[in-house]
Formats: sequence, structure tokens, C-alpha cells
Amino acid sequence: MTQPLVVIGGGGFGRETLDVAEAINRSRPGTFDIRGVVDDAPSERIRALLEHRGVPWLGSVRAWLASSDDALYVVGIGNPSVRRSVVDLVDAAGRRAATLIHPRAGIGSVVTIGAGSVVCSGVEVSTNVSIGRHVHLNPSATVGHDTVIADLVSVNPGAIVSGDVLIEREVLIGAGAVVLQGLSIGARALVGASACVTRSVATGATVKGVPAR
Ligand SMILES: CC(C)(COP(=O)(O)OP(=O)(O)OC[C@H]1O[C@@H](n2cnc3c(N)ncnc32)[C@H](O)[C@@H]1OP(=O)(O)O)[C@@H](O)C(=O)NCCC(=O)NCCS
Repeated sequence: MTQPLVVIGGGGFGRETLDVAEAINRSRPGTFDIRGVVDDAPSERIRALLEHRGVPWLGSVRAWLASSDDALYVVGIGNPSVRRSVVDLVDAAGRRAATLIHPRAGIGSVVTIGAGSVVCSGVEVSTNVSIGRHVHLNPSATVGHDTVIADLVSVNPGAIVSGDVLIEREVLIGAGAVVLQGLSIGARALVGASACVTRSVATGATVKGVPAR
């Protein structure tokens, strides 16, 4: 059955999220009826880019929530704390989230992926992995065996999360970073691009460099 879908956020990751939904439709025709993008204040450039690809701008989040649209939603906003505030608003209104997994992502056995999550092209998820709600796995990120990723985490392009890692909610793992096996990353921490994380990271901390400090 075709599911109506809106993407919230027309920025870079929002439009990449549209790419994932369109790739799913090419692979399994009729999966989603992509209604458009909801965004509180899209710039002229973003509106032009959406128009160019034939995707309507549907207005602000509150305008969409006030409408009778029954579409599933996915939030394509890369920043975890901004994403959380939008998810809280939309969930409180009783809207349901879709899960988008690109057909060229590799998903192993015994993997759970929560509603609202977006898994991009080239991602590899190993075995026995738990991925929460509204998680973004950007292109070519990898997630190792027995790892747990909580809600609202962003793993940026090319990052490598090793096995047996625990990533708590709203963490951002920068592009190309490596998290070594068995470590924990505390809630809302930031791991810089290209960092190599060799020790567990405290809640809310920012670490960068090799080794990450
Ligand atoms: C690490 C990070 C979170 C720090 O952000 P910030 O606190 O705003 O840092 P600033 O830009 O103010 O830079 C502070 C210092 O850290 C350095 N720095 C910034 N990012 C760094 C990184 N990833 N690795 C090493 N050093 C870094 C800066 O050069 C600067 O050094 P200086 O004080 O000697 O001039 C951020 O730079 C980062 O890497 N975020 C991930 C971004 C990402 O993944 N982008 C891809 C999106 S698809």
C-alpha cells in the first residue's frame, strides 16, 4: 500500500532524505507518495531547489500539523537537538513517523531500526545492532556488531562506529570519525570530523583529533 510521506526540513539532509525516499520508490514502485517538504523558513535557494526537483513546499510545521494531512513524516534536520524539538512537537500532535532505508544500504541480521530513522546509500550495519528512533546514518557510515545507538543520533558521512559501542541519545559523530570498540559516547556529545575516539566520551562533551580529546 502506498504511504503518503512528508519530509520535514528542506536543508541539505532534508533533500538527501528525499533522495532516499525516491530511491526506495525506484526499487519498490509505489512505496511512498512523496507529498512535499515542510519547513518553517526555507530560503529562496532552498525553495528554488525544491521547485527544480518538482517537490512542493507545504508550509511550516505548525501549518502542516493544523492540516488534516495524514502523511507519515520523517525529519531531515541534521542537528540532533533541533531535530528533537521538531520530533517532540510532531509526536505530541499524534503524527506517525516513517523509516527510510536506502536500497543500497547493507543491513545485517538481528538489526532493529526505529521509526523516523534515515539510512542512506552505502551505509553498512553489522549484526545484532539496535538503532533508535529518528537516527540519521549518513552516506557510507558503518556501524559494527552488537552496537546500540539511541534516539536522535547523527552519524555523519563515512564515520566508522566499531563493535560493542553504546551511543547515547542526540550524539553527533562527525564525518569520517572512528569510534573504537567497546566504548560509550554520552548523551549529546559531539565527536569532531576525522576524530579517532579511543576512550569513552562524557555526556555533553566535545572531542576532536587523533586521539580524540
Ligand atoms: C569538532 C567540532 C564539533 C567543533 O566545533 P566548534 O566547537 O564550533 O569548533 P570551532 O570551529 O570553533 O573550532 C575550534 C578549534 O577546533 C579546531 N577544530 C574544529 N573541528 C576540528 C576537527 N574536526 N578536528 C580537529 N580540530 C578541529 C579548529 O581548527 C579550532 O582550532 P583553533 O582554536 O586552534 O583555531 C566541529 O568542528 C566538527 O568537526 N563537527 C563535525 C562536522 C561534520 O561532521 N561535518 C560534516 C557534515 S556532513
